[in-house]
Amino acid sequence: MKLIELRHLRKQFIAGDVMVDALKDVSLTVERGAFTAIMGASGSGKTTLMNIIGCLDTPTSGTYILNGMDVSTMDDDQLSAVRNKTIGFVFQNFFLLHYATVLENVLLPTLYVDTLRHDLKDKAMEMLQIVGLKDRALFKPRQLSGGQQQRTAIARALINDPDLIICDEPTGQLDSNTASEIMKILTKLNEKGKTIIVVTHDANIAAYAGSTIVIKDGLIEGG
Ligand SMILES: Nc1ncnc2c1ncn2[C@@H]1O[C@H](COP(=O)(O)OP(=O)(O)O)[C@@H](O)[C@H]1O
Ligand SMILES: [Mg+2]
Repeated sequence: MKLIELRHLRKQFIAGDVMVDALKDVSLTVERGAFTAIMGASGSGKTTLMNIIGCLDTPTSGTYILNGMDVSTMDDDQLSAVRNKTIGFVFQNFFLLHYATVLENVLLPTLYVDTLRHDLKDKAMEMLQIVGLKDRALFKPRQLSGGQQQRTAIARALINDPDLIICDEPTGQLDSNTASEIMKILTKLNEKGKTIIVVTHDANIAAYAGSTIVIKDGLIEGG
């Protein structure tokens, strides 16, 4: 079953009097339960594509069907609702709040969800257990290694039970051993049913995925 379907997606940016065609005509599908890598050189449009897939940005034209819903026509409120319910995010720079504890960082996405839950702290501890950081719950991010910070971000991405986890260069700041630890965690999550998309320019990282999409100058190669 399809989780993601992009049809003839275009994204233009206008900065001053310069117009950039960041995505030119991108069509692709991602099946539910897939582990997909997106590779491409710097500037090829990977982050632009991930931001659209993650409902953080909208296409200039084209259609995006996520989970059977046409999200390309949604307004900001509808998009953030879909985002909070369906998608977990992992970024190259971790994006942790430095004055908050690991536990508070993991709980952050739950602040935006309406459903009242009494067991949220237990749930967050469970997510920290999954990434092997239960004993660091009360640490601050600066007291963690880079790999531990990224594992915190993965726990945070999991807290709302998303169908999809999207990771933009998740290992870009990490040494190769730590990078493979992170990729092994993502592999395990995929085996448990999460759909995962990882952007990378590193073939060793892409090798963890079941399939790879290559993007060049805003176009999918061979697509
Ligand atoms: N907000 C923006 N405003 C103007 N141009 C942008 C913006 N975001 C990205 N671009 C341009 O779009 C192209 C693709 O960028 P990006 O998606 O970040 O590439 P990648 O992640 O593959 O390095 C680049 O030429 C970049 O300069
Ligand atoms: Mg990028």
